This record gives sequence, C-alpha cells and structure tokens, in this order.
Amino acid sequence: METKILRINRDALALHKEEYEAAFSEAADLIHQGGLVAFPTETVYGLGADATNPFASEKIYRAKGRPSDNPLIVHIYDKSQLQEYAAEVPPLAHRLAERFWPGPLTLIFKKSDKIPLQTSGGLDTVGIRMPDDPVALAFLRACGRGIAAPSANTSGRPSPTLAAHVIEDMQGKIDMILDGGDVFFGIESTIVDLTGEKPQILRPGAVTEEMLREVDAEITTDPALLREPVQECRPKAPGMKYRHYAPKAKLCLLRGENEKVLACMQEKVQRAREAGKRVGLILTDENRGKLQADEIRYIGSAASDEQIAHNLFAVLREFDHCAVDLIYSESFEQGKLAAAIMNRLLKAAAYHIADV
Ligand code: TXA
Ligand code: MG
Repeated sequence: METKILRINRDALALHKEEYEAAFSEAADLIHQGGLVAFPTETVYGLGADATNPFASEKIYRAKGRPSDNPLIVHIYDKSQLQEYAAEVPPLAHRLAERFWPGPLTLIFKKSDKIPLQTSGGLDTVGIRMPDDPVALAFLRACGRGIAAPSANTSGRPSPTLAAHVIEDMQGKIDMILDGGDVFFGIESTIVDLTGEKPQILRPGAVTEEMLREVDAEITTDPALLREPVQECRPKAPGMKYRHYAPKAKLCLLRGENEKVLACMQEKVQRAREAGKRVGLILTDENRGKLQADEIRYIGSAASDEQIAHNLFAVLREFDHCAVDLIYSESFEQGKLAAAIMNRLLKAAAYHIADV
C-alpha cells in the first residue's frame, strides 16, 4: 500500500483554511471508506479510523500489531458529540470537559451502541477526548464523526512526536499521514475513568492530579500506576500493563543527588565498555560535557519538565538508530509533569531503577 504524506502548516492553517480544504476532504474520504489516516494532536500523533466502523478499527490493531484487548480512544471535535458515543454522561464529565477540553484529557464512559466492541477492545466502556490542535480539529471536523485513534506507533515502541516517527513505523501500512510538524506536549493524554464508584486517573499526563482535584477533590490515581505491575495489582487501563516505549537497548535509570548520579553513571559506563558493550546516556543540558560514553543525548533542561516531556520519546527512538547495548538515564522528579514522565520512563526501563 502506498502511504500518502500531506504536509499541513499549522500557522498557515489558521490564516488560510481554504488552502487546505482539499487535503482534509481527501483525508476524510479515506476515513469514510474505512481507511487509516495518521494525524498530529497536541500530545502525540494518532492513527485514526472511523470509530463506528468495526472493520476500520480492526485495521488499526493490525497496522500497530496491538493486542486486541487494548481499547482505542475516540476523538471528537465538538463537546456535543459526547452524547453520541457515551451512554451516560455524569455531571462531573461536563465540568471536566468545560475546564480541560479541548486538551490532553481522556474521559472514560459507559459506551453507546454506536461504538462497536472492536473499537472498545471488547469493553462496555469508551475513552473520549477532544484534542487541542488545529490540524487535528480540522481533520476531525472534515470527517464529521468520532475518530478512533491510538498513538501512531508500532505497539511497544515510543509514541510518535514527529511525522518522521510515524513514517518509520507505519509507511506502507496505512493510507495517509497528515504531517503537521512537531507536537506540543510529547506525552499522551491523562486518562480519567468516570465509570467506577469514584473517579480515578488511569494514566498520568499533562492534566495533573492536582489540576483535576481542583474540579473534584475525590479524584485519585489508580494505585497500580505507582509501582511495577504485578498479578494482584494490575492497572485498570489495559494498555498500561504492556511493555511499552522501550528502546531496543536495555535502559536503566539512576535516581539521587546529581553529583552522585553522575559519578555512578561514569563508573557503570566504564565497566560496561570494558565488557565490550556500547553505552548510551540520557542527560539533562546542565550535565553537558561532564561524562563520556559512546552516544549521549541531551533531553532538555533539568529546570524544564515541559522540555523533558517534549523530547523524551524522540530521544528513546534515536537510540534505536545508533547500535548501543545499554542506556543509562537520569531520573526526572521535578515539576508538574514529573509523574507523567517517570511513568513512561519506568515502563521503557522495565522498572530498572537504582537509587544512588
Ligand atoms: O494523547 C493520547 O491519548 C493519544 C492521542 C493520539 O490522542 N492517544 C493514545 O492512545 O495515547 P493509546 O491507544 O496509545 O493509549 C490509550 C490508552 C491505553 O492504555 C488504553 O488501554 C487506555 O488508554 N484506554 C482506552 N480506552 C479505555 C477504556 N475504555 N478503559 C480503560 N482504559 C482505556
Ligand atoms: Mg500508545
């Protein structure tokens, strides 16, 4: 299959919508025919299909190599579409949507009959979100219906934050990629389940627990997220139980006071190289030039959790292109995105973390 790539300039889109009308209507036609179109959102790139078409949803699972019990998020462009896809909309949903939509927040509802089980991974619930990205919204509006979209990566790989990452994983497997450039946040949306007795965060993201609790103090985080998943304590979002985001090389995190982390890292690099291994490091800008290794990637300033979140997946992907056997990374515990960053990084590291 040939994958068509259409470049959409976000800034030009705001000024000259009509220039892009043909592109969006071509993308929408593909969706209406049951095809797959990748598109940018403010979090990561999504792999879109008609959420109401079971055959289209099945294609997503095939293209990603995704386990069929892992449900897809439905993307909408207008809050009024909520009633169509959710069977029950509790008052808290309206308050959260009012405050955080469009934005990086997915809400889980009981699903309506319009959502086939192929889209919901066999569950009777559905995740819905309204993204805050002009390209995503224009695409969704052209489609005129809910679009099921997981992150547009091969299952298990880091989520794509650039069209180049989508091309890497999906070229030849999907109909079209809308290339809207770089995404804003770089980590996926926060997920809040509204179907249980109490609202619960199933995946941390840029809408933090603290922000959510300003709307409802009862919102808490799924305790299974705070530790390595084990049989007795499994995360409620099916996708959170799978190995994820992992680079091909083994990743280990070091946590502690900066000077100690650096000293420990240098020692570990030395030992690994003596054993004939090629070693990579993930460091903050402030530690530039302080260590030596085969490959070093700087992820952003230690003072900016936004930069670190934004660059995280691209850095993990880069290591897949440079033949290292082992990667050591600093831990990132500062700022409001720290929980979301460490959630991804710990999964990428298969929970290998050492306190120094
Ligand atoms: O930011 C995002 O959410 C991106 C962009 C493209 O919107 N999408 C995304 O989708 O991250 P995906 O499929 O890569 O991750 C969705 C996560 C999975 O862990 C899945 O198990 C969980 O959401 N999920 C989806 N529907 C659910 C449901 N009904 N109940 C529980 N968890 C659900
Ligand atoms: Mg994903």
